[in-house]
Amino acid sequence: MDRQVAFRVFRFDPQSDSEPRFDTFTVEAREGMNVLEGLFYILENLDGSLAFRFSCRGAVCGSCAMFINGAYRLACKTMLRDLKEVTISPLGHLPVIKDLVVDMRPFYRKYESILPYLLPASEPPLKEYPQSPKQRHAINEMIDCILCGCCHAACPIVWTNKDYLGPAALTKAYRFVADSRDGAENERLALVSGPDGIWRCHTIFNCHEVCPKYINPTYSIQQLKRMAISRRLHFWRKNK
Ligand code: FES
Repeated sequence: MDRQVAFRVFRFDPQSDSEPRFDTFTVEAREGMNVLEGLFYILENLDGSLAFRFSCRGAVCGSCAMFINGAYRLACKTMLRDLKEVTISPLGHLPVIKDLVVDMRPFYRKYESILPYLLPASEPPLKEYPQSPKQRHAINEMIDCILCGCCHAACPIVWTNKDYLGPAALTKAYRFVADSRDGAENERLALVSGPDGIWRCHTIFNCHEVCPKYINPTYSIQQLKRMAISRRLHFWRKNK
C-alpha cells in the first residue's frame, strides 16, 4: 500500500545559489521502494532540476553514495520501509557540483597515487596467473571495494587533513601488498608511509561502520603499519 514519506533534500548550485538550502518533497512510497527510487519520484513528478548520481541501482557501482539520515549509505540499498522522513545531503568533504552530485576528482587522485594495479615482480605467465585458495582468501575482502567514497567521507582524519590518503586508497594499497602476484611491496609501503599516509589513521573505525560492502579498511591500514614497522626494523638491524 502506498504511503507518504517526506524527503528533505540538500540543494545547491554553485553557479547560481549564494548558499545551500534544504527542499522538502512528499514522495508517494510504494512497497519495496528505496531512497534512490524516491529521488526518481521527485525528479519525474515534482522537480526535474534535482541532480543526483546513480548507475547500477543494485549496490554494485557505488555512484549513489550519499549522507542519508545521519549516515553515509548507498541510496539504492537504503529501503524506505519504516521511514517517515528522509534527510539527504551529498558525500562530505568533496566539492559540490550540484545538489547531491560531488566532484570525485580529489578522491580519485588519492586512489591513483597508490598505483591501483598489479605490478608483478617478473614477467607474468602467458595464460592465467594462478593463485591458491589461501592466497586468494588473503585479498577477498578488499577486492569487494566499489569506490563509493562512503569511508572517505566518514573519516574524521579526512575532515581535518584534505591530503590524507584516506581509507579507500589505503585499503586498495593493502589489497595489492597482500596479493601473492604483486611484486612491488617496498614501493607501495614507501608510498603509503608518507606524512599523509597510514600513520595519520587513529583507528576510529568510522570507515568500517559505513562500508556498504562490510569491508574493514582499519584492518588493512593496521596491516600496512605493521609491515612498514617490520621493514624499518629489518633495515635498521641490517645496517647497524
Ligand atoms: Fe550503483 Fe547505487 S546505483 S550502487
